[in-house]
Order: sequence, then structure tokens, then C-alpha cells
Amino acid sequence: GATGPLTGRHVLITSGPTHEPIDPVRYIANRSSGKQGHAIAEAAIEAGATVTLVSGPVSLPDPAGARIIRVETAREMLDAVEHALPADLFVATAAVADWRPSRQNDSKLKKHSDGEPLALSLIENPDILATVGRSASARPRLVIGFAAETDRLLEHATAKLDRKGCDMIVANDVGPTTGVMGGDRNTVHLVTRAGIESWPTLSKIDVARRLIARCAETLTGILP
Ligand code: C5P
Repeated sequence: GATGPLTGRHVLITSGPTHEPIDPVRYIANRSSGKQGHAIAEAAIEAGATVTLVSGPVSLPDPAGARIIRVETAREMLDAVEHALPADLFVATAAVADWRPSRQNDSKLKKHSDGEPLALSLIENPDILATVGRSASARPRLVIGFAAETDRLLEHATAKLDRKGCDMIVANDVGPTTGVMGGDRNTVHLVTRAGIESWPTLSKIDVARRLIARCAETLTGILP
């Protein structure tokens, strides 16, 4: 691979949505395309890193040169991430489903003959970013989270820094009028304990390259 500012570093990235099964043919999902996470994998490879990409179900080509682990559910994603550690840099880009059906039916659910509503009971999924960011034994030196919000963006992002043990939260507005979900461009704000830095609207690959350049700089300052 290429030699660059991340040569010799292991970068672990999550990307895409997760699918949480309801029964053998149905699942709960979200609108994440995986484009931003996959672009970060590409940028990290360009920068010379050894890259592990843990990806939920997406319809994107595999970034050339990354080790790719495909998963479906949040619990599978956590398992894959834990097995891929240690890493120097962890970037949690995936739109992990916050909840999953509390039980997965073994056979396809049938409509109620009397037209009664179906109640789905949901339980919380593990938080992958918080698990890694707050790990006492396996925390990568640099941990980056994303925050996709439709309202009170920077307030929510700032709260996530401490709650999830991150060094930086990349906050992006995913309101319905922004076109960010599934689109090719992104407008982000970098939230760190030192403050907030807002970037202009860029293509997702340019956001990825700038973010990776920033992470490489930070790692150079703190690692041998
Ligand atoms: O709290 P919220 O879901 O908005 O946080 C988003 C950040 O947390 C993203 O970096 C996402 O990848 C990560 N996350 C996670 N596991 C979850 C939920 C979110 O890693 N179960």
C-alpha cells in the first residue's frame, strides 16, 4: 500500500446502518448509505494505514486495500469491533440501530385476522462507540464519533463527547432538507474539548481526507 502519515497505524472504522431482525423476512433499518464511513476507509488507506472496515449492509463497492468485515446487527458489529482491536484510531461512522426487537420470531409474523395492531417491543442495543471509548484496557489512542442530528446539533454533540469517551465528535445535520443521508456531500462541525470548528460543505471523500489528515496530525503528536 501507499506510504503516508498513517503508515504503521491500525485504523478501525464502522460504517453503514445495522439491520435488526423482526422475523426471518423483516428487519428494522435506517437511511444510512455507508458513503461517509467507506470514504473514511479510503482516505485512511490513501494515508498509508492498515484499515479494518466493519460494515453493516450497504450497496457500495469495497474500498480496495481494507480488511472488510460484514455484519448485519449491532451486536454483530460490536463483536467484530472488539475482535479487531487493538487500533490506534477508531472512527465510529455507522448509524447503529439504537433499538432491536426484544425477540426475533422464528417464523414470519401473520396479520391479525381481527385487524388488531401489532405491538413490537424494542430493547436498547449496545453502544459500540461508548464501549470502545470508555474501555479501560483496549481504548485506541484516538476515538472519533459522529452525531447525526436533526435539531440542537452542537448541544447534542458536545454531550456525546464525555458520555461516549470520544476525543472528537463530527456533527452533521441530517434534517430532511439537507440531502446528507444517502447524498454525496456533507456539512460537518468538529466538536472537541477545545471548541467547535465548522467546515464548509464538502464532498464526503473530501470530508474524509481532511478528517484523516487531522487525525494523523494528532496521532503524530501523541504517539511514538
Ligand atoms: O447517540 P448517537 O447514536 O447519536 O451517537 C452516534 C455515534 O455513536 C456514532 O459515532 C455512532 O457510530 C455511535 N453509535 C454506536 N453504537 C450505537 C449507537 C451509536 O457506536 N449503538
